[in-house]
Parts: sequence; C-alpha cells; structure tokens
Amino acid sequence: MANVRIRELDIRLGGIGIIEKLDLEVEDGEFLVLLGPSGCGKSTLLHSIAGLIDVEGGSMVIDDTDVTWADPKDRGIGMVFQSYALYPTMTVEQNMSFGLRIAGVARDEIARRVQRAAKMLHLTELLQRKPAQLSGGQRQRAAIGRALARDARVYLFDEPLSNLDAKLRSELRRELKQLHKDIGTTMIYVTHDQVEAMTLASRIAVMKQGRIQQIGSPQEVYAHPANMFVAGFLGSPSMNFLEGRMAVNGDLHFTSAQLNIDLSGHAFDTQPAHGQNVVLGVRPEALVLLPASDPRAVAHATVVLIEPMGAHQTVWLDAGGISLAAHLETGTAPAEGQRLGIGVDACGLSLFDQESQVRL
Ligand SMILES: Nc1ncnc2c1ncn2[C@@H]1O[C@H](COP(=O)(O)OP(=O)(O)OP(=O)(O)O)[C@@H](O)[C@H]1O
Ligand SMILES: [Mg+2]
Repeated sequence: MANVRIRELDIRLGGIGIIEKLDLEVEDGEFLVLLGPSGCGKSTLLHSIAGLIDVEGGSMVIDDTDVTWADPKDRGIGMVFQSYALYPTMTVEQNMSFGLRIAGVARDEIARRVQRAAKMLHLTELLQRKPAQLSGGQRQRAAIGRALARDARVYLFDEPLSNLDAKLRSELRRELKQLHKDIGTTMIYVTHDQVEAMTLASRIAVMKQGRIQQIGSPQEVYAHPANMFVAGFLGSPSMNFLEGRMAVNGDLHFTSAQLNIDLSGHAFDTQPAHGQNVVLGVRPEALVLLPASDPRAVAHATVVLIEPMGAHQTVWLDAGGISLAAHLETGTAPAEGQRLGIGVDACGLSLFDQESQVRL
C-alpha cells in the first residue's frame, strides 16, 4: 500500500511537450481514474509512473521514496496494459509466475501468490491453459492476475477493458471494483470511458492536452464541473449548453433568445457581472418536459427525435434553432413534432463564462 506524489512533472516526446507542470497526489488505497480524450497524455503519464519513459523535469515519490529516476523493477508497481501481453507459449500459471521467477522469489512463495491471485480472479481452473485457449475476458483476467501476483504497492491499469465486448467489460469492471475493495491497494486506472470512470473511481482526474482540468469524486466532477470541457466530457448525452447574458438588477437572471431563468438561488463560485456573456449548462436529466401551456415553463421547444434506451429515453428537442437533449423515464412518451414547455431543475445547472469557459 502506498501513496503517490507527483510534482511539476514535465514530459517531452519527440521534441514536443506532452505533459507540462503536472501535479497529482494519489492517496493510499485510492482508486484514481485518469479520464480524458484520445491523445491527452494518459498513457504517457501512467508509463512515466511505471518508469517506462524518462521524464524531463519534476519529481515522483511513492510512499517516501523518490522514484523519479528509479528502475521500473524497483518501484513496486504492477501494470496491466490494454493488450493482454501474455506470453503465448506459456500457461496462465507460467505467465503469472514468470516475473517472480526472474526476480528470484522463492518457489513456495511464488506458488502461494499465484494461487491467491488465481483465486481472486477465478482463474484456478484455467491455470494450465495457454492464452490461445482462453476467451478475451479470461486473458485479461490472467493479465490482471499476473500483475496482482507481484504484490505491488501500486497497480497501474491502462485501458484494461477496452478490447472486450460490452457485457464482459461490465462484468470485469465489477470484478475489478470488488478486487480493489478486497485488497485495498492503491490503483491508478486510465480510461476514456466515462462509465468506467464514474463506477470505479474514488476520485477522477479529468485530463485535456497534458493537463489535469479537475480532480474530485465522480459526483463532484459530474455535478460541479470546473469548466465546459469537463462538463461536456462527462455525461451521455452531453450537457446542454445555452449561450446568453446575465442580468443583475437586485436578482440574477440568465437571459437568451430562448429562455429567461431566475438564478438568484444558485450557489455561484464567482458572482457574475451584469451583462456578462455566459453559457448555461443543463444536464439532460435536469430538463423537465411540461405541457406547452404550463406556467412553470421557462422556454418552449418541439420534439425532434426520441431515442428509446430501455429504462429511459432521450428526447431531442429544438428550441428556436438550439438542439437540446432531455432524459425521460420510459412510459410517458411525447410524440415527435409535439410542442412542449420546458422547465429547468435548478439543482442540475452550471454556469460558465463564455470566453474563459470556466465555471462561475
Ligand atoms: N514516442 C512518441 N513520440 C512523440 N509523440 C508521442 C510519442 N508517444 C506518444 N506521443 C504523443 O503524445 C500524446 C499523448 O499520447 P498518449 O498515448 O499518452 O495519449 P492517451 O491519452 O493515452 O491516448 P489514448 O486514449 O488514445 O490511448 C499524443 O499526442 C501522442 O501523439
Ligand atoms: Mg493511451
């Protein structure tokens, strides 16, 4: 078990700055998820923690040991990659024990660790099989088992589930969460899948272009996004964005061509100024569909398309040329082409400065 402290990390690859002045603290026993779009530097950051690439500047401390320049094998890290990277000619058991044999761990200790990891990952029956005789999910479990057998202080995962089909992915996701509960070891997990991030993380660090945009619990990051990038990246369908202006005359109003909302009760991080250009962010589940004549309606829209999702449906609306998504329980379907009133649940609102895109 260990914490990880990264300070002012700089990484350059091929002459280009990939990570710049990055600070990150991962607590002992935490499940930290690095979430961000393709190319934002998630794997680069993870590989640098594992010691697989050299850093340009900054420091990295695991527990109280400075590992900035330590050899990968001396960092106490177990890593699981996106591709299973199992040795094809070895059995699962040999794959799991190989690194330990190289490291000179005693025979009975190896057997003990392999058995324990196999038991946790339901691999006991599969230990004598070769990778080619396993399904994709079983192979990835074997790769996780191999990392686990190392008894690392920190486990690093780089998109370990992205090669699996949707059903296996959610099964293995649950197993990983249970595994973390059972062993309690610090884990850093890279993904660009927001469902994985929301379900697994104790905290999510959202990255964009080599910088951490926000770090917080899944609920904090979802409900209180620090900027429009984070707001738009989490949630499916994405948060609705509406451009408008603030009117501050005693009370506070958001005004645009489509709607006028009293925001006097909103908890602002920064008080907006009169006339300030802003963007109102409304989660699809915070849009309330009302009859067109309902006095609670703050705007009106026409139903364009309905996407049934099983337990709920996404209703796509057109409000004076602006496309909006609303989340609706199944059972109360409006008709396509229907004119509706729109109400807004004040709890699901975010407000951003239009220019800086930072939360107000
Ligand atoms: N060896 C390299 N030389 C130069 N640039 C590189 C090298 N490896 C990666 N990069 C660049 O660094 C950036 C970050 O890459 P990285 O693999 O860390 O992204 P990622 O967030 O893991 O993306 P993905 O979700 O697609 O795996 C990318 O723009 C990539 O093109
Ligand atoms: Mg990657």
